[in-house]
Amino acid sequence: MSLDIKRPSTNKTKKKMGFVVKMQLHNHINNKRNNLFFFFFRNYYTWILWFFISLYFFTSFFFSGEYNPTTTTRLLSYHSSLPSRALIESSAINKSSIGMFNGMKIYVYELPSRYNEDWVTKSSRCSTHLFASEVAIHRALSSSSIRTLNSEEADFFFVPVYVSCNFSTINNFPSLTHARSLLNSAVNLLSNKYPFWNRTQGSDHVFVASHDFGACFHAMEDMAIEEGIPEFMKNSIILQTFGVNYKHPCQEADHVVIPPYIPPESVHRAIEKAPVNGRRDIWAFFRGKMEVNPKNISGRFYSKGVRTAILKKYGGRRRFYLNRHRFAGYRSEIVRSVFCLCPLGWAPWSPRLVESAVLGCVPVVIADGIKLPFAETVRWSEISLTVAEKDVRNLRKILEHVAVTNLSVIQRNLREPEFKRALLYNVPMKEGDATWRILEALGRKLDRSYKRSRIMSE
Ligand SMILES: *[C@@H]1O[C@H](CO)[C@@H](O)[C@H](O)[C@H]1NC(C)=O
Ligand SMILES: *[C@@H]1O[C@H](CO)[C@@H](O)[C@H](O)[C@H]1NC(C)=O
Ligand SMILES: *[C@@H]1O[C@H](CO)[C@@H](O)[C@H](O)[C@H]1NC(C)=O
Ligand SMILES: *[C@@H]1O[C@H](CO)[C@@H](O)[C@H](O)[C@H]1NC(C)=O
Ligand SMILES: *[C@@H]1O[C@H](CO)[C@@H](O)[C@H](O)[C@H]1NC(C)=O
Repeated sequence: MSLDIKRPSTNKTKKKMGFVVKMQLHNHINNKRNNLFFFFFRNYYTWILWFFISLYFFTSFFFSGEYNPTTTTRLLSYHSSLPSRALIESSAINKSSIGMFNGMKIYVYELPSRYNEDWVTKSSRCSTHLFASEVAIHRALSSSSIRTLNSEEADFFFVPVYVSCNFSTINNFPSLTHARSLLNSAVNLLSNKYPFWNRTQGSDHVFVASHDFGACFHAMEDMAIEEGIPEFMKNSIILQTFGVNYKHPCQEADHVVIPPYIPPESVHRAIEKAPVNGRRDIWAFFRGKMEVNPKNISGRFYSKGVRTAILKKYGGRRRFYLNRHRFAGYRSEIVRSVFCLCPLGWAPWSPRLVESAVLGCVPVVIADGIKLPFAETVRWSEISLTVAEKDVRNLRKILEHVAVTNLSVIQRNLREPEFKRALLYNVPMKEGDATWRILEALGRKLDRSYKRSRIMSE
């Protein structure tokens, strides 16, 4: 038996055996117990041996300063039961990751300027309009510490293509007709030049689709649905403003719902111009497109007729400040308002949502099924109101009820800087801002990281 014990020859195992031998000597004093011990030991020594070997590997794994993939693999083969495997995997990821967002690293592709910067050079509006998150995220990532210049180290690959800046010379609206071909050309370019796209079919690649129907790249829902998400982007992660809480062809790729772009400077300017006494003399505010007789465009009506219903019922009412005309200084009106109506347009989301929230006006969301940005971390129900499209004719009663019950609670919540911060994009990125929240969301998708999957399977 002692021969058997000596057989395992690594130093470390001998140490454990030394401990067993000491126990034996100690037990010599009591014969009965001694016999029992030897009986036990003779029959179960292999199990005891296994236990100590396992214990050794297990503890050395947890207490050694560095993460060693070989140890993990060995452990995984010793313990094949699920719970221990899960424990080891999660701790392995933590150990190999130092710093923010689990040590996530993002590689930002350097594409020729025709894919991005040229559009801003052509029109500065490209970096300030409501779809400009495609520019802001690119800039914030480029200057962030999450960025890596070493592609081998990257968990995700960011593809910076600005598709919303081909402004029409006729109506000044962005034309999206070129979006698919521009993106396709960028993907062809990078998949020929680098090995990263091909090895995962783009599943660790990140795109921004800040337009109305996100990754479908069309401003009209019917056409957007008909054309769907481009085939080559379906495996990737899409950062998009469009989001609904039901199945929709334009969100069938993995995605993060992000806020529309509002320039932080314009918010600060509006706050500076706010009445010094903080008085909000406008009760319910809306400025924007409201058709008196909505046109039937291939079976659909703008805003599903909701804006028309608001105009017909409340236009001219004393407490409702409704205006159909554009006015550059509209943010100075928002800071004077108590309730800001955010009815759907063609798409469910609108920049008003962010503008009202950051300017302290309670957003009244009227868009059934909308999925709001960063819903996992921003508690929208505490800072906004939701009114069903069918209830829009009771709007006044609903708002009056809130005004006498919980309005002050909602207004107090809106003053929390945390909410404001999450809805604005800064360059460079600030802790808790919109880009930071995007990174937080990507950090929950690290199972897509090719680098990490390699570490685990080695
Ligand atoms: C790993 O990190 C996550 C997130 O930071 C944490 O929730 C989890 O408890 C950590 N796991 C271990 C085993 O330390
Ligand atoms: C911009 O849009 C117009 C009109 O849809 C289109 O004809 C043109 O090709 C686009 N420009 C580029 C550079 O793709
Ligand atoms: C990736 O795949 C495409 C299409 O199969 C091919 O044309 C390209 O050369 C590949 N890229 C690399 C870097 O091997
Ligand atoms: C709208 O137009 C479509 C045809 O494009 C038609 O089928 C539908 O009945 C019209 N709806 C209304 C309410 O007029
Ligand atoms: C305020 O009241 C409305 C209507 O009663 C309710 O829907 C909403 O959840 C309340 N909000 C908060 C933050 O209490």
